[in-house]
Amino acid sequence: MKKRIIVGISGASGVIYGVRCLQHLKRTDYETHLVISDAGKLNIEIETAYKANDVISMADYAHDHKNMAASISSGSFLTAGMVVAPCTIKSLSGIANSYDDNLLVRAADVVLKEKRKLCLVVRETPLHKGHLRLLSAAADMGAHILPPIPSFYHQPKTIEDIIDQTIGKIFDYFGIEHDLFKRWSGERRVQVADVCPAPARFQGKKTAIYSRIGG
Ligand SMILES: Cc1cc2nc3c(=O)[nH]c(=O)nc-3n(C[C@H](O)[C@H](O)[C@H](O)COP(=O)(O)O)c2cc1C
Repeated sequence: MKKRIIVGISGASGVIYGVRCLQHLKRTDYETHLVISDAGKLNIEIETAYKANDVISMADYAHDHKNMAASISSGSFLTAGMVVAPCTIKSLSGIANSYDDNLLVRAADVVLKEKRKLCLVVRETPLHKGHLRLLSAAADMGAHILPPIPSFYHQPKTIEDIIDQTIGKIFDYFGIEHDLFKRWSGERRVQVADVCPAPARFQGKKTAIYSRIGG
């Protein structure tokens, strides 16, 4: 049987994370099941050069987020789990409270009840205590909280490098092999010029952060 993974795209900033996730999953043996919220569709058009239908066509199966009778609405439909990228606070709240009024939240709730993997790429900042409580509740129920927070030790040069590092972290969680970022090996080879040019006021000076990065 083909391995299946559900990709949810909700309406937080960073819908490109869901798009890149689908694109990279195409190079794996996973069958993709996509569900996009209305706000997710809106943000695809606001933030990217894609139309919602372009993204829908990247998935093996796309489900209407209002179709509660879709396969992914049932635990009897076997999947490896689900990633919600990006995940809004609203969808997080729905998931943390099992308020299953759309297919994205229902599919995530099913994944949790079946003790499968749920990765929430929650994007909001700053976070108030209510947000933190929701994150904590979702984590207590088994969700993997993976905010799209970049690292810099892999020396990103482009926005794609930064996005792909988060996709790589998602793939690591699901045990999907990838070469989306350079792993930290313990070797300090980073050069200042590889990371970014130092601001003019720091050039020629060994300031704390630049001397640390530059070695
Ligand atoms: C351009 C734009 C950016 C947004 N960014 C965020 C965000 O980063 N995080 C968030 O929780 N909501 C964000 N929102 C608000 C959500 O889209 C809104 O709460 C929506 O109702 C979420 O619905 P959904 O969870 O069903 O997708 C954004 C809205 C717009 C239009």
